[in-house]
Amino acid sequence: MPEIVMIACAAKNDVIGNGPDIPWSIKEEFQHFAAVTKGSPCIMGDITYESLPPQSKPLPGRENIVLSLDPGYQPEEVTLFRDFEEAMAYVRALDADRAFICGGATIYTLGLEVVDTIELTRLDRDYEGDCFFPVVHPEVWGLEMRETASGVDRKTGEEITFEYQTWRRKSG
Ligand SMILES: NC(=O)c1ccc[n+]([C@@H]2O[C@H](COP(=O)([O-])OP(=O)(O)OC[C@H]3O[C@@H](n4cnc5c(N)ncnc54)[C@H](OP(=O)(O)O)[C@@H]3O)[C@@H](O)[C@H]2O)c1
Repeated sequence: MPEIVMIACAAKNDVIGNGPDIPWSIKEEFQHFAAVTKGSPCIMGDITYESLPPQSKPLPGRENIVLSLDPGYQPEEVTLFRDFEEAMAYVRALDADRAFICGGATIYTLGLEVVDTIELTRLDRDYEGDCFFPVVHPEVWGLEMRETASGVDRKTGEEITFEYQTWRRKSG
């Protein structure tokens, strides 16, 4: 049974998106996402899936599992579910080491209840946006690993520092 892990990148003020888009573009962070999720099933909401750039839709080399409540929505080349619990049951039966919940805000909020691990890139600055990462309560989650990195935000041209963080649900 695969471990189900949440993976996200959030600004200091918890922003993860603005409309359908991610407000930054950091090559190192994309490469991190690609390396961590490589070969693993990736679960995401339809808004996140539709916002992927054409060359990454579906995310290559990974089973793309898309959630939508819209009965008329029929994307090609993805595994589609209309119910989060059904998607989780399907993923748990897969022959994989890990499966990833890849957003967006709605699916992260649902996912936070079921995962024991969060791979979170935390940017060291605020961004403007209207989609937020759910609160990671310190009484529930412990920070197990942190590693500092940096890169250029291609949308602003600014050098930005960030931290790759691994959070684990505390037992009991
Ligand atoms: N920074 C990051 O790491 C990161 C990662 C991913 C996404 N994002 C950002 O997050 C934002 C999108 O987040 P979002 O919350 O608007 O959309 P989303 O989570 O991508 O998708 C939400 C959709 O999932 C469907 N859904 C909701 N509950 C469901 C359930 N229980 N079962 C089945 N389907 C269900 C609904 O589809 P219907 O449309 O059918 O109602 C809903 O519209 C964008 O700005 C995106 O760029 C950021």
